[in-house]
Amino acid sequence: MDLAGRTANMNVSAIREILKVVSRPGVISLAGGIPAPESFPMATIETLVPAVLERYGSKALQYDLTEGFPPLREALVGLLAGRNVAATADDVLIASGSQGVLDGIGKVLIDPGDLIAVEAPTYLGAIQAFSPYQPSYVEIATDDDGVIPESLDEVLTHNSVKLVYMVPTFQNPTGRTIPLDRRERIAEIIERHGVLLVEDDPYGELRFRGERVPPIASLAPDHVVYMSTLSKVFAPGLRIGFTVAPKKLRDWLVIAKQGVDLHTSTFNQALAAEYVSSGALRDQVPRIVNLYRPKQEHMMRALAEDLPEGFRWSRPDGGMFVWVEGPDAMDIDVVYKEAVERGAAFVPGKYFFTNPDRGHQTMRLNFTTATPDQLSEAIGTIGSVIEAQLGL
Ligand SMILES: Cc1ncc(COP(=O)(O)O)c(C=O)c1O
Repeated sequence: MDLAGRTANMNVSAIREILKVVSRPGVISLAGGIPAPESFPMATIETLVPAVLERYGSKALQYDLTEGFPPLREALVGLLAGRNVAATADDVLIASGSQGVLDGIGKVLIDPGDLIAVEAPTYLGAIQAFSPYQPSYVEIATDDDGVIPESLDEVLTHNSVKLVYMVPTFQNPTGRTIPLDRRERIAEIIERHGVLLVEDDPYGELRFRGERVPPIASLAPDHVVYMSTLSKVFAPGLRIGFTVAPKKLRDWLVIAKQGVDLHTSTFNQALAAEYVSSGALRDQVPRIVNLYRPKQEHMMRALAEDLPEGFRWSRPDGGMFVWVEGPDAMDIDVVYKEAVERGAAFVPGKYFFTNPDRGHQTMRLNFTTATPDQLSEAIGTIGSVIEAQLGL
């Protein structure tokens, strides 16, 4: 059997492989990127299921439009308006997770050799979705406030970039959020260069403190594909993602999706429509925030107590991740192996860079699934493994 040439670009997700290893009993995993199961609104779902059957009957089980189940597209208009993203129901497309949007974007926009500008570090799943279409990547420099606008301007000035991909709010993997003044500069830069920005926003609702920042899509609507998901605020297994894209792209995303899955699960979309339109989502978000905020604060304290001098880490106001940067002398492969051996797992940060030379002293820590005691124990273990590796 001869595989298509493009399969050479389809890497197995390093993180999924790590997750298989660390899901064994006895290991406390800060490696995952999944919501806490306690964040799922189980009791609400028990009432939503009969409500969906009552309201939509067999329609909820029938084939439906590729664009998405109309009541869900309607319901998302209000949600988007609350985020300053102006859209009509016709502008909203539903996909099977935001990963489904990323795949569609790759399919309809990327030719072999096209250049994609990404944050360094960036979300690995986007790279996985885009890479089969054989693009090259150019990295945009970041600091504690995320993308540095001057770096974006320079990248766009010196390269012919097909699209820019960013996670501006509570980024995966760093947890960083780009502040408003930088967003305004980024909007001006992408407009001036006439480039398309793919703005991926799965975490924006999970704000623990501080003021909301509007999506870049609200500042440069004609140049941004905005995408989001219900995975972190409802249940990821339902696979409900959505996007608002410029019309031409939207039309092609629909055509591409017809060939992939015809449409996203009608029943799950109907459940999501009820969840959003009934106000259950609005009520659930503060519960999720109240579940995650103390865990994140606990992680901050544990890092301050247990990591030796020379380490720094992000202090996110929301989301699911903290990013740790260590000194040059740290050998992350040794630390990772030893930490897993001793029952504490994380994701080495190098996997989130498109440049294989970058990120060797970094790690991504997730705080949503472990209990506070487990967070203390895992970070204590990681800290002592690091001390031993650095000879402290
Ligand atoms: C930045 C980012 N984009 C997209 C996704 C995919 O989410 P889903 O396909 O469940 O909507 C994730 C999941 O972790 C993510 O972190």
